[in-house]
Amino acid sequence: MNTPKRYLITSALPYANGPKHIGHLAGAYLPADIYVRYLRAQKRDVVFVCGSDEHGAAITMQAMKEKTTPKAIVDKYHALLESNMKDLGISFDIYHRTSSPIHHETAQEFFNTLNDKGDLIIKESEQYFDEEAQTFLADRYIMGTCPICSYEKAFGDQCEKCGTSLSPEQLVNPKSTLSGQTPSKKKTSHWYLPLDQHESFLREWILENHKNDWKSNVLGQCKSWIDAGLQPRAVTRDLDWGVKVPGEAGAGKVLYVWFDAPIGYISATKQWALDHQKDWRPYWEDKDTKLVHFIGKDNIVFHCIIFPVMLKLHGNILPENVPSNEFMNLEGDKMSTSRGWSIEMDEYITDFVKKENGGDMMVDALRYYLTAIAPETKDSEFTWKGFQDALNSELVAVFGNFVNRTFVLMHKLCMGKVPPLHVDLLDGTDHKIIQDIKHAKTSVEQHIENYKYRDALFETIDLARKGNKYMQDKQPWIVAKQVDENGVVTPEAQCNIDNALHICLQLTANLTILINPFLPLTANKLCHMMKVVDKLLDWENAGRLNLLSVGYALRAPELLFRKMEDSEVEMQVQKLKLKSEKLMENTPVTNEPAKAAAPLKPEIQFDDFAKIDLKTGTIISAEKVEKADKLLKLEVDLGTEKRTIVSGIAMHHQPENIIGQKVVVVTNLAPRKMRGIESNGMILMAEDADGKLVFVNSDVANGSNVS
Ligand code: 2FM
Ligand code: ZN
Repeated sequence: MNTPKRYLITSALPYANGPKHIGHLAGAYLPADIYVRYLRAQKRDVVFVCGSDEHGAAITMQAMKEKTTPKAIVDKYHALLESNMKDLGISFDIYHRTSSPIHHETAQEFFNTLNDKGDLIIKESEQYFDEEAQTFLADRYIMGTCPICSYEKAFGDQCEKCGTSLSPEQLVNPKSTLSGQTPSKKKTSHWYLPLDQHESFLREWILENHKNDWKSNVLGQCKSWIDAGLQPRAVTRDLDWGVKVPGEAGAGKVLYVWFDAPIGYISATKQWALDHQKDWRPYWEDKDTKLVHFIGKDNIVFHCIIFPVMLKLHGNILPENVPSNEFMNLEGDKMSTSRGWSIEMDEYITDFVKKENGGDMMVDALRYYLTAIAPETKDSEFTWKGFQDALNSELVAVFGNFVNRTFVLMHKLCMGKVPPLHVDLLDGTDHKIIQDIKHAKTSVEQHIENYKYRDALFETIDLARKGNKYMQDKQPWIVAKQVDENGVVTPEAQCNIDNALHICLQLTANLTILINPFLPLTANKLCHMMKVVDKLLDWENAGRLNLLSVGYALRAPELLFRKMEDSEVEMQVQKLKLKSEKLMENTPVTNEPAKAAAPLKPEIQFDDFAKIDLKTGTIISAEKVEKADKLLKLEVDLGTEKRTIVSGIAMHHQPENIIGQKVVVVTNLAPRKMRGIESNGMILMAEDADGKLVFVNSDVANGSNVS
């Protein structure tokens, strides 16, 4: 394809129903951001849109869980997601929301256009109905056993275990998630998108036209959908939270969330255009626009089959590519916010980015590791040890080390200025590294254009590795020992030193350009050290060896990355386990037999136990936490200090009854925010035969060690 006139890049709109984890970041946001930053450096016309998906059962069910309104839920989590993405350097041109009026208008117009053209069909059918709640049950309002993998808690729209997209009728033993009852069936009418009428278009467009440029995981999923026989798909629901179906016949109905959400990309573009006095239409109507959707694998069918049919019928351009990622697992298990087996973006930001000086280093460190292990072709695995290794032995030991050596030696041996290049003295080693610099540009560029960010990043780090090797071969600090009788470095030796450091500095400038899409904060820091404006970052500058002028004075080196300690790794792994255990304990499991004697956890070594600091204390104050039925905010006297601890015992104890109570406290548990209150430790409780949490009583001095 010739260079497109403009680019419209989208990242899947996350549901504003809770925090999102770093697996989401690695799947749909970070790769898109890398691509967009690269395109911007190429000076291409690019708009990067995203926003919160604020409709659907995901939102209304969370509102029920938090005993509040859907509006309060989307307001809260939209703000959280917007700020998390920004803190992690995701550079959307707009982060919009599907609850905005412009989105509702756009989605209704889209529906009307298709409906008026006769592209939708209306069908009456029997659907599950909850007699007790007097409501139809669609999507997540119904649960049952997955017909594919037998998971017993599959939703009516999707099995979260095997990822299969389902319809409620496919569930075995369906139950209402509202009342727990077996639903009845009742007649209702809905609008359907007759996907079956578009099979030949989809076959040709995806399986023929894109057979060589779409990823095989994406093509594979599309093929199995098409081969299984496409069915008409309902695009409306009997609900009240969502975009109202226009017209009288639509009373009491809303658009299906998966009909309105992708239209969110268009409404976001419209809002961006309004904000910047631009025309949004070419981005969605001109064939010279390259539209690319970045998503996770559970969104493939919606972006490759359903939305393209909608776009075609509405007269819009189609995506040029949908580079979907697979999933990123965590420490040996699937990442899941609801099971507590996750690292939420917000959690990472609190623990690493906002907590210490130089938090920006840890933004880029995360971006680095997530890209290095991106699940581009198959599921991948995040481990804290792997993160530590990548940070310590690649970013610090290779990239940071090369830049630091270059700057330190330039200050020591070249008076802090870019030394001249003595062309006549260049040898084979110099010519080789010059070739490597030129080659790196082409290679990184090709990988990025082909959505292979792991490879692109690897090439960039490899160039730094070659820089280290070059420095080691040239050893300017040894050459500097060739001095005359006055202790002055000989002219020939100085020329060799100049050449080595001139090349290393030009190499550093090149690394800055190449690393910028991946680690933008590091690139900015490097620009500051080199005293150059961000014009240097223009992609066309990569591969050049005259980026820094001879004689130009540069700043002292700054620390680019810091090492991650073993204790941090241990703490995070421990925190993850505790979080998941705690969450699973607090999650009421409906319709399941009462717990028998709890099974013993796997055996641990004494060293594992010794890491936990246990102390005795006295509760000196206790109060309920607003809007949290289970939580009490406690003040605990530990003898030498007083701690605030948020504890999930409110269902078992009245605050006024527990003042003066002796407790055992885990004192070295990482602080955790609950309902805006920072909890600094955990009190240990025992569970009695009725499942009530009781205190373990004993009369010892506060601050005693428990062992
Ligand atoms: O799976 C999800 O989280 C959806 N909210 C993604 C929507 S992407 C697009 F269609 F808006
Ligand atoms: Zn399943």
